[in-house]
Amino acid sequence: MKVLILETADTAQERVVSLIAQTMRDKPNAVLGLATGGTMLPVYEKLVALHKNGGPSFRDVTTFNLDEYVGLAPEHPQSYRSYMNDVLFGKVDINLQRTHLPRGDARNPEDEALRYEAAIAQCGGLDLQLLGLGHNGHIGFNEPTSSLKSRTRIKTLTRETRDANSRYFRADETIPTFAITMGVGTILDARHCLLLATGAQKADAVAAMIEGPLAAVCPASALQLHPKATIVIDMAAAAKLKLLDYYLHVHPDGTAREVV
Ligand code: PGA
Repeated sequence: MKVLILETADTAQERVVSLIAQTMRDKPNAVLGLATGGTMLPVYEKLVALHKNGGPSFRDVTTFNLDEYVGLAPEHPQSYRSYMNDVLFGKVDINLQRTHLPRGDARNPEDEALRYEAAIAQCGGLDLQLLGLGHNGHIGFNEPTSSLKSRTRIKTLTRETRDANSRYFRADETIPTFAITMGVGTILDARHCLLLATGAQKADAVAAMIEGPLAAVCPASALQLHPKATIVIDMAAAAKLKLLDYYLHVHPDGTAREVV
């Protein structure tokens, strides 16, 4: 695990954007796994700005998002398809045919999950998987006690997750109970996992992910098994790490230390 600690949320987001851009420069037809949530909004904003200012093109990029709410059609304003169209896909030169999210309105969500998993494999797997982190340690919608070998499937959202996401729904709207989500095993198959967590409210989950035991009760701890996982956090999210000084020593200001 590479733990990159930046002073502020802003510089942490910039670091993540530069790592995504690096992947796109190295492989213009990269397959990117994308994430939603509040943490990612400034990341996409900065990525769009970079793209418009001479940054890498999305023309040959393929994307697969982590998850989608069961029961929401793509055009529903709170669907993750709408989120992605609004904050990224509609603002860059991506071919929409190559952007994928599970269909929340599929007649048979379980079949849809299997189809989605197969579609990722058909594209040759994920080059880079972008991840946020739930307060409860979830990645994607893999809630605590998700199998660490799970594949794309239906998960029941915890009350905590539904409460955290209720701010995006109108008072008269029902917050979905289920989601289709890539499994922890699906995520671990990505060639590079890149997780961003910012803010003091994520400090407990960050500590459990990096320094806690490998345990299904904190699904993000499964990233300890990944050969190439980069964790980007700001100082506030890093506050509860026991080995904070060591991470800062290895990667001062989130950069790589020269081996001499
Ligand atoms: P947030 O969600 O970015 O809105 O905090 C992260 C997550 O639940 O994965």
